[in-house]
Amino acid sequence: FPETITASGQLTASSVTEAILPGKSVRMLSYRQGALGPTIRVTNGSDVTLRFNNQLTEESNIHWHGLLVPAEMDGHPTQLVQAGGSFTYAFRINQAANMAWYHPHPHEKTAKQAFMGLAGMILIETPDERALNLPSGTFELPLLIQDKRLDGAGSPVYNPTMDDVMIGYMGETVTVNGIAGAFHPVSTRTYRLRIVNGSNGRIYNLALSNKAPFQVIGTDGGLLAAPETVTALLLSPGERTDLLVDFSKVPVGTDVYLTSETFTGASSQGGQAFNILKFSVNKAESDPFRMPVSLSTVTPLSTASAVKTRQFDIGISAEGMDGMSGMKGMHTIGGKTYLASRIDESVKLGDTEIWEFDNSKGDEPHPMHLHGTFFQVISRVGGRNTLYANEKGPKDTVLVMPGERVRIIAQFKTPGTFVFHCHNLEHEDDGMMLNFRVS
Ligand code: C2O
Ligand code: CU
Ligand code: CU
Repeated sequence: FPETITASGQLTASSVTEAILPGKSVRMLSYRQGALGPTIRVTNGSDVTLRFNNQLTEESNIHWHGLLVPAEMDGHPTQLVQAGGSFTYAFRINQAANMAWYHPHPHEKTAKQAFMGLAGMILIETPDERALNLPSGTFELPLLIQDKRLDGAGSPVYNPTMDDVMIGYMGETVTVNGIAGAFHPVSTRTYRLRIVNGSNGRIYNLALSNKAPFQVIGTDGGLLAAPETVTALLLSPGERTDLLVDFSKVPVGTDVYLTSETFTGASSQGGQAFNILKFSVNKAESDPFRMPVSLSTVTPLSTASAVKTRQFDIGISAEGMDGMSGMKGMHTIGGKTYLASRIDESVKLGDTEIWEFDNSKGDEPHPMHLHGTFFQVISRVGGRNTLYANEKGPKDTVLVMPGERVRIIAQFKTPGTFVFHCHNLEHEDDGMMLNFRVS
C-alpha cells in the first residue's frame, strides 16, 4: 500500500526509479517516491493544503477527481504549473464519505503522465460512515487498478499508435497500487475493497475466482442507500466502487482472486479473462461484521425539477473526421473537440439539468465524466438497457457503451468553469472534452 497522509503535505511530481515488477528497478513518474502517490485520508470538514512541486520537464497540474472543490482548485486544463514551478492546492472538504483520486490534467499530456505513474487515492471519512462499522484498518483495502505496457526492463512505455488512440492505450500487465502480480493475505472475515479504475482505457468486469457473490455498498460519490448483491461488476476508467467481500466461509489455505471476466458490448475489449489480485486466506478468525440494513440516504433528484435537457452525440463523428489533422481530433462531444478558450455550455448556478450522452451510432465505449458536481444516472436506453448496482448512488463518471443513450441528472452548485470529458484518456487527449461554465 502507498503511504497515507492527512490534510497537508507536499506532492512532488518527478521521474523516479521504482520497482513495478518484483526485483526490477524501473523508470517511471511519481508523486513522492512510491509506485503510486500517497493515499490522502481526511475527515469531512478538514482543510486540505497540498503543495505541488512540478519537477517534470513539462507542464502538469493536479485534478482532484471526486472532490467538490472550487473551480480555481480543480486542476482545469488551463490551470497549469510549468516545469520547475509550484502551486499550493488548498480547499475545505465538504461532501459525503467517498473514495476519490487524483491525477494530472494538462490537455494532450494527461494520458501520458497518468500512465507513467502520476495518480493517487483519496478517502473522505464522515461520522455517519464510521457509525456503520464497516470493515476498517487492515480489513479496508484501497486499490487502484491499472494496466501497463512495459519494456524489457519493466519500465512503463507510452507511445500510442493510431489504433491505441482509437481504443485506448492498453497494457499486458495489470497492476494494483503500482504492483504487478499483487497478492494480499487475508483472514476469514469480511473485507472492504475500495477500488478505483485508474487505467487509461481498460474496462474491468470485476468478479471473484470462486464465483462467490459480493456486495456493492458505494460508488463514485459515496455510499448507496442499501447494499446490492452481484457476481460481477463493470468498472470503467475513472469510476470507483466500494465492495464487501466475505472470506468467512473460504477454507484456510485457499487462494481467491479478484478477476476480470469476459464481457460483451465493446468491440475492442472484454475478450479475455485475467486475474487482478490474489487473496491468500491464511488465518481463521471469527467475523464480527454485520451488514447494515441501510447505508445512507440517497435522495433521487426529480426529473420534474430539471429546467433543461442537453443532448450530446459522443464518439467518432463526421465533423471530427473532417477536422482531423494527422492523428488528432477524431473523438468528439457534440461534434466538437476541446478548445480551452471556448465555453461550450453555460449553466445557471443552482439549476438542475438532464444531460444525455448518445453513443447509439458509436462503436467504442466512452466513460463520461463531469467535473464540479456529482450526478445521478436516470436511464440507459439501447445496448445493455439497464442500470447497474454501481449506478444507484452519486456518480461522476458513467459508462456509455456502443448503442447506448445514457441520461444523467445533476444540480450545479459550484460556480466556475469546469470540463466534462471521456475518461478514456486517449480519447480525452484526442479532444473528447468540452468546457461548461456555471454562473
Ligand atoms: Cu479523472 Cu477530468 O478527470
Ligand atoms: Cu474529474
Ligand atoms: Cu471515449
